[in-house]
Amino acid sequence: MDLYLFLGILAIPLIFLFWISYFQIWTAGWTPTWKSDAQKIIELANIKEKETIFDLGCGDGRFLLLGAKEGAKTIGIEMDPIRYLISKTRSLLSKNRGKIEVRYGNFFNTQIKKS
Ligand SMILES: C[S@@+](CC[C@H](N)C(=O)[O-])C[C@H]1O[C@@H](n2cnc3c(N)ncnc32)[C@H](O)[C@@H]1O
Repeated sequence: MDLYLFLGILAIPLIFLFWISYFQIWTAGWTPTWKSDAQKIIELANIKEKETIFDLGCGDGRFLLLGAKEGAKTIGIEMDPIRYLISKTRSLLSKNRGKIEVRYGNFFNTQIKKS
């Protein structure tokens, strides 16, 4: 097998392992809220239109989508680039995309306010 092909194939799991370990060990990790629990939380929050919901560490953006469905503006901040991209893509594909904002970065270093 060509050496470069071998190294390329080897690099994929190594990059994946690095991504998993870096964000699982040195940040809060990713333990997404169960969809049914997220739905219940949104119901209990009794969200009104014109309210703004922040999700600090928004993961795949599930709370952003649910909140926007209830009419709120939702803002999520995510520091993991992969989860940020998932969240951003889901927001752009949502029919409530105008109400959802996904910001990339560390929420400790981010201005948490409506833009
Ligand atoms: C336990 S998960 C929760 C995800 C989502 N809010 C949910 O309930 O399904 C925590 C998320 O916060 C992100 N996170 C942890 N520390 C962060 C920080 N300082 N700034 C931005 N995101 C952070 C992690 O990357 C992870 O996606």
